[in-house]
Amino acid sequence: MSVPRAPLWMVCAALLCVSPFFAAPRATAEYADVVINRAAEAAGMRPVIFPHWFHRIRFRCKVCHAELGFKMRAGANQIKMTDIIDGRFCGACHDGETAWSVENCDLCHSGKAGLPPGIFGGHETLGPGRW
Ligand code: HEC
Ligand code: HEC
Ligand code: HEC
Repeated sequence: MSVPRAPLWMVCAALLCVSPFFAAPRATAEYADVVINRAAEAAGMRPVIFPHWFHRIRFRCKVCHAELGFKMRAGANQIKMTDIIDGRFCGACHDGETAWSVENCDLCHSGKAGLPPGIFGGHETLGPGRW
């Protein structure tokens, strides 16, 4: 009876591939959720949870960080709800066609009160309603 074994190079390739995830000292936005709360709570809305990983696996970085003008720093963007409704920032996609529309306030404004802007979580997004 012989147990099938992967050739050594495959094992090494697999280890090389996963090791950055284990070695990472802290989660980065690429794989986590971003709390956006510069204005939301002050305006009486719950903080926004932006599931970065969920979006990052669907779109190229440049779609958001070049074409849509999102600065690559948590808390750095001044995003007005009127801009979103006008089709800028999140509203470029959340228009009822590419993705569900802006009427779904709670799907974006899903954070618990008091969350500061920043990066939370690991390689999996928690998604709306889990905060
Ligand atoms: C696609 C995601 C998304 C949806 C849907 C959404 N928002 Fe927002 N909203 C945001 C983001 C991002 C911000 C910026 C938050 C910040 O900087 O604190 C924001 C900010 C706000 C603000 C504060 C800033 C301002 O312009 O006054 C209010 C108030 C607000 N939203 C209300 C709403 C209401 C009401 C709805 C539903 C009709 C809604 N939002 C739906 C993403 C969304
Ligand atoms: C769907 C839009 C979208 C895509 C695609 C996207 N990002 Fe982001 N990214 C954002 C938003 C929104 C923020 C939060 C900005 C804020 O808090 O104001 C952010 C934040 C960041 C940050 C800041 C993290 C920190 O610690 O401050 C980095 C770095 C980043 N993104 C890198 C990337 C990279 C690399 C890719 C592609 C692999 C990517 N993003 C794809 C929207 C996107
Ligand atoms: C480049 C296009 C794009 C941009 C920009 C974008 N989204 Fe999305 N978003 C999507 C798509 C596509 C989905 C999936 C919609 C579906 O499942 O019907 C989605 C889903 C979501 C979800 C639900 C995730 C889940 O687990 O189901 C949230 C929350 C969300 N977006 C928030 C935001 C917020 C907040 C912003 C702005 C900071 C934003 N999005 C900007 C395309 C985008």
